[in-house]
Amino acid sequence: MSRKPIIAGNWKMNLLQEDAKSLFMGIATFAENFSKDQLPEIVIAPTFLSIPAVESMRCDKCRPLIATASQNCHWENSGAYTGEVSVEMIKDAGCSYVIIGHSERRQYFSETDEMINKKAKAILAGGLIPIICCGETLEQRESGVTDEHIASQIRAALKGLSEDEIAKSAIAYEPIWAIGTGKSCDATEANRVIAMIRNVVKEVSSSKAADSIRILYGGSVKPSTIEEQMSKSDIDGALIGGASLKADSFNEIIEKTMKVAV
Ligand code: PGA
Repeated sequence: MSRKPIIAGNWKMNLLQEDAKSLFMGIATFAENFSKDQLPEIVIAPTFLSIPAVESMRCDKCRPLIATASQNCHWENSGAYTGEVSVEMIKDAGCSYVIIGHSERRQYFSETDEMINKKAKAILAGGLIPIICCGETLEQRESGVTDEHIASQIRAALKGLSEDEIAKSAIAYEPIWAIGTGKSCDATEANRVIAMIRNVVKEVSSSKAADSIRILYGGSVKPSTIEEQMSKSDIDGALIGGASLKADSFNEIIEKTMKVAV
């Protein structure tokens, strides 16, 4: 079954509004040279404050070519949750994806598997698509518990979701030791872990869900690594931090993905 690749840029806590607008325009100008069918699904995840700035730059031509994601959400619709943003608000701002469970949120903001599951449910109920992140620390990898750890993160994140909800979701496998280090996980190993994740999806849901869900790789993805990564059987795209902050490198990643995988 052929799954449409997703190339997603996670801008993290970077770029003021004007810089976010220029980066968006650099990507849009490139994407507009192609039709939607020729491109991977392009997703950008600015900060909450830059989402409206980026959305204000959209023209009719680029609207269907680039989707916007937020980097987090709360699972309640509204209420006394100081500092939080709901799925309804994120949708209202123009987003169609939400990244959840990024290792930086798990590590620095104490996000638990249970919170990530609540967020996934709220995102799907609101008609948006979650990109659910998972990944092991270097210590976990060295002690041989990678597969076990990731399988348990995935089982917890998908708990209680229907087959259709799982089928339309996306997962990003991001080994923590590969994030922002310049040291990407070997593509064959990333593919092995991603195939293992697909198997867990089959186990908790169905073959249909496992065949449909897009599973991305993330962790120091660069123009020089993407072709090998995208040529692997189970890798359906990339979640990119550092290399998504410059239009040139992000566009090169999109271009190379088109060559091998769209
Ligand atoms: P990186 O970040 O590409 O800078 O390693 C990836 C991520 O954290 O999503």
